[in-house]
Amino acid sequence: MQNIEELTEDHIKFLKIFNFIKNHDNMKKIAEDLETAEANSKDDENLVKLNEQIKTEAQAIYKISLNTKIASMMLSPQRKRIRIYMDGVFDIIHSGHFNALRQGKRFGHTLIVGINSDADVVKAKGPSLMNVKERGSLVEACKWVDEVVLDTPYTPTIELLDELNIDYVAHGDDPCYNELGEDVYSEMKKQNRFKMFKRTEGISTTEIIGRLLMLSKGSTSRSSSDNKTMTSSNLLKAVADDTFDKGPVVSSFLTTGWRLHEFCNNRVPKDGDKVVYIDGAFDILHPGHIETLKKAQSMGDFLYVGVHDDATINFHRGKNYPILNMQERVFNLLALKYVDDVVIAAPWGITEDLIKSLKITLVVHGSEAKFDSDYQVKSEQDDPFAVPRKLGIFQQIESVYDMTSEVLVKRLIDNRDKYVKKFQSKSEKEKNYYQTKEYVNEI
Ligand code: CTP
Repeated sequence: MQNIEELTEDHIKFLKIFNFIKNHDNMKKIAEDLETAEANSKDDENLVKLNEQIKTEAQAIYKISLNTKIASMMLSPQRKRIRIYMDGVFDIIHSGHFNALRQGKRFGHTLIVGINSDADVVKAKGPSLMNVKERGSLVEACKWVDEVVLDTPYTPTIELLDELNIDYVAHGDDPCYNELGEDVYSEMKKQNRFKMFKRTEGISTTEIIGRLLMLSKGSTSRSSSDNKTMTSSNLLKAVADDTFDKGPVVSSFLTTGWRLHEFCNNRVPKDGDKVVYIDGAFDILHPGHIETLKKAQSMGDFLYVGVHDDATINFHRGKNYPILNMQERVFNLLALKYVDDVVIAAPWGITEDLIKSLKITLVVHGSEAKFDSDYQVKSEQDDPFAVPRKLGIFQQIESVYDMTSEVLVKRLIDNRDKYVKKFQSKSEKEKNYYQTKEYVNEI
């Protein structure tokens, strides 16, 4: 321990900066981004930019000049790294889960996610649509997740946390009870090892199951001109009354500029980068999407993902697609490790203008069917890849997974009664959460 009079100017600066980072939320965020950038060797430019940002902000507030050495002392890897544990079912992964993982990561440095075992999920909530391996592979693809542990218990124990070297457990502000009606995090709360974040409103597995149940009812094709809409609240009534054929669902998941910014990578391709482009609906995410995106990203230096808007998907795929609206699909993609940026409402047919504007050097597409079986490419005008094909920059990627949204709908149809029951009981719980919730800041 040093005497106060022995403190050098550097020490004093260090302490000031320490205090500065601790007390300024935006600095915490910059420090965290800096760590992510440091861990990602691809991000040299971003690293320099963030270092500059720290220096400028420190200078503006404390009127001190901060050299990079001190900044890096603050952010040195020797500092204790806080390990956060989050767990859950994470069935049909969605923007609410991703926003939860993003917020959970804020409480520390390393995020470990436990995926509840299939058996425990059945006991606590009823069947999940995806098995533990599928759920785990989707969580693992999230850019805020560092480690995934499969087959964890629905009620975590202190022993498990200690075994994984966990400092804190994080969960949304929705209560979480096991089949005995006990708070699954009561032990962690007693030990002050529990952190709470804001549950994301307007999207949930239950909400998506409700939308899928409408589909599995076998309702007929619906055109995008059908203007009958269904809100989340009357979805529950429709399932209860068995009256599904009501038109597209209106999501209440909010797309604020701030939230979008929090999900974005804030980077553009560097000069000379090989820019790869892939497009699609990217409706309910499944392991097949992840494998294709991973492959596409590895084929260049920067991957843009074009996301078609709802009317385009509805026109080309018919039936009741898409299940998730464009904003929900965009957030899902931005949360993935394998996506550098997205093109929102991308054109169905890839144009020369799009290729030039984004400096695309390769267009790829998964081999899994993009169209309904009754849709056929009749002429060149019908082929969305005609331009990249002509330019010799088109390549097909062999899809390794044969999962599609239809496979999930089939799983649901096979166990329809169980899902209807689960949907009804979970919807009631969600309604209760919305009625009794108190305001919690999203971080
Ligand atoms: N979560 C969230 N916002 C949502 C849905 C889930 O913040 N809209 C959080 C939960 O609070 C939990 C984590 O995601 O911390 C995992 O949730 P999960 O176990 O999958 O179950 P639920 O909370 O029941 O989520 P869902 O209703 O979507 O199944």
